[in-house]
Amino acid sequence: MRKLVILGSTGSIGVNALNVVRHLKDKFNVIGLSAYSNVRLLKEQINEFKPEFVCVGDEKRAEELHRYCGKKVKIFYGNEGLKALASLKPADIVLIAVVGAAGLYPLISAIESGKRIALANKESLVIAGDVITKLFKKHTSAEIIPVDSEHSAIFQCIKNESHRDISRLFITGSGGPFFRKKISPDKITPVQALAHPSWSMGKKITIDSATMMNKGFEVIEAHHLFGIPFDRIKLVIHPQSIVHSMVEFCDGSVLGLLSVPDMRLAIQYGLTYPERYPTKIKLLDLTKINKLEFYQPDYKKFPCLQLALEAARIGGTMPAVLNAVNEVAVHNFLKNKIKFSIIPKVIEKIMKTHKVIKNPVPGEIFEIDTWARRKAEELVC
Ligand SMILES: NC(=O)c1ccc[n+]([C@@H]2O[C@H](COP(=O)([O-])OP(=O)(O)OC[C@H]3O[C@@H](n4cnc5c(N)ncnc54)[C@H](OP(=O)(O)O)[C@@H]3O)[C@@H](O)[C@H]2O)c1
Repeated sequence: MRKLVILGSTGSIGVNALNVVRHLKDKFNVIGLSAYSNVRLLKEQINEFKPEFVCVGDEKRAEELHRYCGKKVKIFYGNEGLKALASLKPADIVLIAVVGAAGLYPLISAIESGKRIALANKESLVIAGDVITKLFKKHTSAEIIPVDSEHSAIFQCIKNESHRDISRLFITGSGGPFFRKKISPDKITPVQALAHPSWSMGKKITIDSATMMNKGFEVIEAHHLFGIPFDRIKLVIHPQSIVHSMVEFCDGSVLGLLSVPDMRLAIQYGLTYPERYPTKIKLLDLTKINKLEFYQPDYKKFPCLQLALEAARIGGTMPAVLNAVNEVAVHNFLKNKIKFSIIPKVIEKIMKTHKVIKNPVPGEIFEIDTWARRKAEELVC
């Protein structure tokens, strides 16, 4: 039985991860769970999976849980709590599925503790990819198994290959809800932007998919996970979401991973690697799909994509600014406080004023993150 910690267990990835655990119940023992504010769902999960350790967003919620669980469960809170759960001695696998920059705290802690990390949180690699790469060089027993479907696909395509034989990575994306539509970004509502054509995900990543910031993040994520330069990572729009990404090798051969779009597949592989087990997901029938299309991305229509690639090119602390301002802007768009069209404008404006630190340490990244959030709040309020 693998001892499993799931950080972000009340989110879309977390809930699906627990579905995987239900499906493979003789393979996993859940010893840790975390939520931010959804204490109601967390209580249900505690009742069912009986973890010894849990974490919530703040002290008040921790006290509420303490009253509910008594002494049977050790309760933590905040970023320190996430770090504690990520470094639990008995844990064999830590799934990091919290959303946003908060994922960086447990990621660093899990690496320093030499853990196997099933990584869904992409923002941590966007904001601190170089720091994470350096940490891995120091803590060689730690490892990441990607859970993001595109990166899981690439990971599976290259695991038996030599790194020097990889020519290019092709990251595929559905194009989001507006790919085929003529849009007036000023008029897009949260309901329209949340209507993703192929994936059911948390709200933040769904908006990132509508602006295509998500694909920009995935390029940065792939660069840090696989050590491939940015100019050899290509984005391809693939509306059917069947090919989850591809790798081209030096002889011109291309390997890809195909399946129906269902996150449980990448989550299960991330938790059971290197073993595979049957799943309950629908099997792929290509004769019913008939066609698989591939297009160039439209950088003019989706300025966030351009901004993400620009931040990646500049490097240093710029991707942290990109991410922090994006988180604030998306949050305010979801609350109907700013228009969809304002998201890239705020990001661009703050990126222009930022003085980049080339090789930041984690403390500087957290400082810049706070600075960028404050600037963004000032601009959108
Ligand atoms: N959903 C997908 O299919 C998918 C696919 C690929 C990659 N990812 C990545 O996986 C991560 C999670 O995505 P998701 O869609 O599952 O998000 P989600 O549904 O919004 O869930 C986020 C989880 O993180 C918790 N959380 C929120 N803010 C937090 C904070 N400040 N500190 C600690 N925990 C916090 C939430 O707790 P509460 O429920 O209590 O708020 C929830 O458990 C993201 O980085 C996303 O980009 C997701």
